[in-house]
Amino acid sequence: MTEAVWEEFPQIFKIDECETLQSEVLKNRTLIIAANRAPVTLVKNEDGEIEFQRGGGGLVTALLGLARYVNARWIGCSITEEDRQWREGVIPLENDEGEILVSFVSPDEESYTDYYNVIANPLLWFLQHSMWDFVRTPTFDARTWKAWHEGYVKVNRLFAEAIVRQIEAADKPPLVMLQDYHLYLVPRFIRETLGERKPYTLTHFVHIPWPGSEDWGMVPPAMRQAILQGLCSNDLLGFQTREDALNFIRTCESHLPDTEVNFTKGVITFHGHDTHVRDFPISIDVEALRELAATDEVAEYRRHFIERYGDRKLIVRVDRTEPSKNIVRGFAALNEMLELYPEHCGEVQFLALLVPSRMEVGEYQNYLDEIMAAAGRVNALHGDSTWEPVRVLVGEDYPRAVAAMQLYDILLVNSIADGMNLVAKEGPTVNLKDGVVILSERTGARQQLAPGALVISPCDIYATAEAMHRALIMPAEERRKRAEFLRRAVEAEDISVWLCWQLKTLAELGL
Ligand code: G6P
Repeated sequence: MTEAVWEEFPQIFKIDECETLQSEVLKNRTLIIAANRAPVTLVKNEDGEIEFQRGGGGLVTALLGLARYVNARWIGCSITEEDRQWREGVIPLENDEGEILVSFVSPDEESYTDYYNVIANPLLWFLQHSMWDFVRTPTFDARTWKAWHEGYVKVNRLFAEAIVRQIEAADKPPLVMLQDYHLYLVPRFIRETLGERKPYTLTHFVHIPWPGSEDWGMVPPAMRQAILQGLCSNDLLGFQTREDALNFIRTCESHLPDTEVNFTKGVITFHGHDTHVRDFPISIDVEALRELAATDEVAEYRRHFIERYGDRKLIVRVDRTEPSKNIVRGFAALNEMLELYPEHCGEVQFLALLVPSRMEVGEYQNYLDEIMAAAGRVNALHGDSTWEPVRVLVGEDYPRAVAAMQLYDILLVNSIADGMNLVAKEGPTVNLKDGVVILSERTGARQQLAPGALVISPCDIYATAEAMHRALIMPAEERRKRAEFLRRAVEAEDISVWLCWQLKTLAELGL
């Protein structure tokens, strides 16, 4: 950690520069966004009326923001029966920021289960987060292949058909922005259907890590090649980090016959088509998060935490109940820290705020059980009638999580692998205590945040315990400098920068 690191944070795009870019690049286009999740879900309220529930998170905000400049459509999978029946319609956006046409793709239940619960999560998710245990998993049996053909391939075709319909109906050349690992086959299906019949641009952003080519070597060739050919049908392909982008190019070099790759230029040529590969680290909507942090609801939770935990130092984590988040090793690290440095007993409080996730997938159910057992173990070993070292709060309550992030002395982000990890960016943005971030070197966030964080290797429980101790005894001045670095790093590259980089790249490449 050198002084120079703290000095400069160039604002990568000024706000007006970003706005000009968005309106310039988009003014002669039709925008088509496709993601597994639509930006809204429809539900019936108590009076039987249909209501729109807007999805949370910066991605939805940033992409919906584009509707100000352009005729925009969003295609996603239906979740509720109301989504299914509604099928398609225009949704007005908040603050008069235009409107967006939302279309739902509605596969039958079995196809959706095969696509989402068998192939996307866990198969692809586990592969891309290095969570396979090759002695036992994965297995590709008849059930897996059925799920591939009748689930993943089928739902990707449904998406492609819906997008093709929108491309055909568009009056200006469409820009299609595909999101994530659910839709790897879609670009190829679009090109096969439309060929050169109409001008359009395909971009795809992969939000999760892209592991090395050896891991992809364990996927049967037919599946692997379909995925790589799908992604190499895009014009611009984005990853979270430079390493993910390089890993992708290497994977194509090793596993996609007839491909030419150029590492320096970041171009893959497959069957005469160029795919430009870049990294665009995603971020958060800093302004919206700070607005939420300033609400009474968050203040109320903050008061409650302060009352309940008093002067104890808070170690906080905020995660989905997700095996890749490495929650069990996080508790083991606390246990080790208390054994190595018993002076912290009674002085710290570990607060784990966990949102249940993908509970239809067996691995996720088991993991929640393991989390609760691991927390119980630490409490049994170190707690007494006046102190319970670990508190696990399960449930979706974002304002409560924001309050906890305002108060942490330590934020623990020890993921086994993580495309970005937005908690590592949210925490320093709202934290009020110059808290220290302990960050896994296997998160995408480490590319930008490493100099301000205490970086650990996620399986190294001892190093994580030592990092906790170091953070607890860290001099105030070092804490302040680190917290400031993290805050300014996130402010300089927020979610609008993620979007602007992509649009700027499209403009520079003439796509
Ligand atoms: C990750 C993925 C997203 C996904 C999200 C929540 O961030 O990159 O595509 O939407 O997790 O997962 P879920 O399965 O609930 O959509």
